[in-house]
Amino acid sequence: MKQQLELLRAEALRAVEKAGAMEELENVRVRFLGKKGELTAMLKMMGQLSPEERPAMGQLANEARAAMEKAIEAAKAKLEEAALERKLERESLDVTVPGQPVRLGHRHPMYIALDEIKDIFVGMGFTVLDGPEVELAELNFDRLNAGEGHPSRDWSDTFYFKEDSSVMLRSQTSPMQVRAMDTLPLPIRMIAPGRVYRKDEVDATHSPMFHQVEGMVIDKNVTMADLKGTLNTVVEQLYGKGTKTRFRPHHFPFTEPSCELDVQCHKCGGKGCPTCKGEGWIELLGAGMIHPHVLEMAGIDPEEWSGWAFGFGLERTAMRRFKIADLRLIFENDVRFLEQF
Ligand code: PHE
Repeated sequence: MKQQLELLRAEALRAVEKAGAMEELENVRVRFLGKKGELTAMLKMMGQLSPEERPAMGQLANEARAAMEKAIEAAKAKLEEAALERKLERESLDVTVPGQPVRLGHRHPMYIALDEIKDIFVGMGFTVLDGPEVELAELNFDRLNAGEGHPSRDWSDTFYFKEDSSVMLRSQTSPMQVRAMDTLPLPIRMIAPGRVYRKDEVDATHSPMFHQVEGMVIDKNVTMADLKGTLNTVVEQLYGKGTKTRFRPHHFPFTEPSCELDVQCHKCGGKGCPTCKGEGWIELLGAGMIHPHVLEMAGIDPEEWSGWAFGFGLERTAMRRFKIADLRLIFENDVRFLEQF
């Protein structure tokens, strides 16, 4: 029996050594040490031994069991370590591998133009204001001298939110004149770019949503000469030194006198071509001296203060700046188009 035990012990240790995976190791354990295992069976046979033989055999059997358990534990630890090693190997990170390049976008051409415009005005001491696109009709119309019944208030032109026509999507940035007068201390020099909305069909030159830039100066002794001088300076900075301008009389309810400013066509130099529709001039903006009644409604004394204001379409300015022929390209955001600027 002693010999049998030693053989079994040696066989078990060999089997443990050969086991290359956890399941194999478990099989070995069950085979030798399990309830129906070979060592267990041998222990059961001990009962047949004489009482003298039993203690020595018992000790031998226990030693065999301990040796097997120890070998299994050691093999298990080794397998676990190897598994961890493999896992770490798999998950290791090579920080020297070059990264995936990130494709950077860039500013939209209209905002490139706007930033140039802002720079010009900020350089002349103007503040840049931001205001709500959902506006009170009172500020969009009444406070700008366009009272009840004024044609610009028509439902067919304006997006109203309420039956009583009191809240609307602003149709111009001019209510920012009123907001500036109501909130800023005098004197004021400000521009206010932003979205405006009108019920227009989309075509190459129209969109129900577009952008305007409002500008306003209120100070003492401000005259039409200041308006012309400032806007001429801006035009030269935007379109180059020596660009010719033309001020034409016009009408806006909130300025008096009012005018429109044209620039000489950059394409034909004033002779007339398709770009300027044969006119030789391209309309740039509306402007004028702030109507005394508009100042009065804001609590500003028109005897003491005077001012001027202008408003122009940002899309059209960007289109001219980058020679873009169709307004829709500005809003479609086709990357192939935008990438060109
Ligand atoms: N708000 C006017 C428009 O939308 C433009 C304008 C602004 C005219 C300021 C005069 C002064 O046409």
